[in-house]
Amino acid sequence: MAKIGITELVLRDAHQSLFATRMRTEDMLPILKKMDQVGYWAVEMWGGATFDVPIRYLNQDPWDRLREIKKAMPNTNLMMLLRAQNVVAYRNFPDDIVENFVRLAQKNGIDVFRIFDALNDLRNMEVPIKSVKGTGAHCQASVSYTISPIHTEEYFVKKMLKLEEWGADSICIKDMAGMISPKRAYDIIGGYIEAGGKCPIDLHAHSISGMTGMAYQRAAEAGVSVVDCDISPFAEGTGHPATESTVYAFKGTEWDTGLDMELLMEIREYFRTVFNKYRHLIRIEALRPDPSIVLHQIPGGMMSNLVSQLEMQGAKDKLDAVLKEVPVVREELGFPPLVTPTSQVVGVQAVMNVLFGRYKNIPRETKDYVMGMYGQSPGPIRDEIKEIVLGPEWKSMIITGRPADSLEPEFEKRKKELEEMGLLKQEEDILTYAIYPQIGLKFLKGEASPEFTSEKLPLPLDHPQTRAMVKSFFPEVKDIYLYEEEPKGGGPVSIPTEFDVEVDGEMFEVKVSPKGGFMVAGGEGGAPAPPKDVEGGFKSPMQGNVLSIKVKEGDAVTEGQVIMTVEAMKMETEVKIDRAGTVKQIFVQSGATVATGDLLIQVL
Ligand code: CO
Repeated sequence: MAKIGITELVLRDAHQSLFATRMRTEDMLPILKKMDQVGYWAVEMWGGATFDVPIRYLNQDPWDRLREIKKAMPNTNLMMLLRAQNVVAYRNFPDDIVENFVRLAQKNGIDVFRIFDALNDLRNMEVPIKSVKGTGAHCQASVSYTISPIHTEEYFVKKMLKLEEWGADSICIKDMAGMISPKRAYDIIGGYIEAGGKCPIDLHAHSISGMTGMAYQRAAEAGVSVVDCDISPFAEGTGHPATESTVYAFKGTEWDTGLDMELLMEIREYFRTVFNKYRHLIRIEALRPDPSIVLHQIPGGMMSNLVSQLEMQGAKDKLDAVLKEVPVVREELGFPPLVTPTSQVVGVQAVMNVLFGRYKNIPRETKDYVMGMYGQSPGPIRDEIKEIVLGPEWKSMIITGRPADSLEPEFEKRKKELEEMGLLKQEEDILTYAIYPQIGLKFLKGEASPEFTSEKLPLPLDHPQTRAMVKSFFPEVKDIYLYEEEPKGGGPVSIPTEFDVEVDGEMFEVKVSPKGGFMVAGGEGGAPAPPKDVEGGFKSPMQGNVLSIKVKEGDAVTEGQVIMTVEAMKMETEVKIDRAGTVKQIFVQSGATVATGDLLIQVL
């Protein structure tokens, strides 16, 4: 049976890759009956950012979406993407959270769990695999694909055989950066089968490099069982090969999918309309191939993030230096795949190294990574790097066991907290709260407000999100106003100061601090602006949010002492004073947004 199956990604990865996971449940429901007749191997519709975005931006319950889709598609296997021990977020969770999450996801309708760990640390996948097996659902275990001297064909084949041994029902080769070449796809799949591998293989590859269709053909020749596609209006670019094109390409061959082209065309017509509703959220670059990825290996999301981080730090001219620094840091950190969260660790460390000197400024996340809190690095990290990052005590700081072993159970504790707050309406809420304590709680309290409803789409020109898009397309634009708009009382035109920055398809909120050229709404109230400079003034070396202030007025400080922690580029970093003296005045409060060069404290 060489027939190839299709996993349709339009309800999850496609819109996560193209427009930051913003598709609403109501834009999915009308077409599900038709999709249920197609005979896909699976439809991926949950996991990854589809948990975060609905509670953060849409005021929709992700569990409701799961139940509604299940009800409308009783004949189709529903798939979710599970970030192994990270579940549907970015940190390791204790085992009881993983187990309960899997149990309830299966109970509400998930048939296929695709599990991956960014570092391919199989210890992070053990409990998720066991949990899925325990529910009787299909367990698809993944290897995260990347290119490095460590990530050889043998490396992948060995990992795949191990996952099979652990009971995987199928294995996914997950090429989230879209870098797999036809030869590599053929060699890895062929190598696994030759080594006696028996699990069906599902190839998941994004189209960025422009060669993914060819990779699917070679994968078929090597014996792949399933390939991942998007219905054509959502296909290619940062998405995946088109479903209809793939179906037609295999038609009449030994790999014929058997899917009905006419039916797919009807589904295509529907999604063309949906795509048009969301078109204002799509960057034109996301629709085209970018073959440069195979050379620098920096995924598009990470690249735009680096650019915006440098912009915020006022150092856009350093981009070339940062692009050269990324592979050096990646090697020093043992060649992690550049995917969330490790892309963030490598990217920000590279930016810090260029701006402040190599490892002069080390965010907490880099330390956590080197300590082994995310899992084991794919390749070794040299002792000298460990010492630079963690300090002279590094040997006692390294975790050699499975990261989650050091975590206390959380489920009962979170349950009790929700009960005490009177917010426990369904068991699923415990997980929403445990996994996203801040935004989850806000959502459960009914305080989340949807950014806009589906009926309002596409957005009008004067919507802040439309303006944010214009800014991102034309960064040189200093001011944005519309011709129809009367400036209110001659006052400043309001421009959004909070932007969403996409990293590997995940959205992060970024605050832009007012600086020359930007005008900010309001202005009434608030603290008086601090002076530009004073004698003994110490200025912020970076843009970020002040998390905590470690000194108070009258304190004596020594050179190199930590005076504040700042969240910059989504990472927590320490600000050290460059001189000794006495703190005379502090110009910022914790929670404040500071720009590079803003006065922080006065030390005399
Ligand atoms: Co993907």
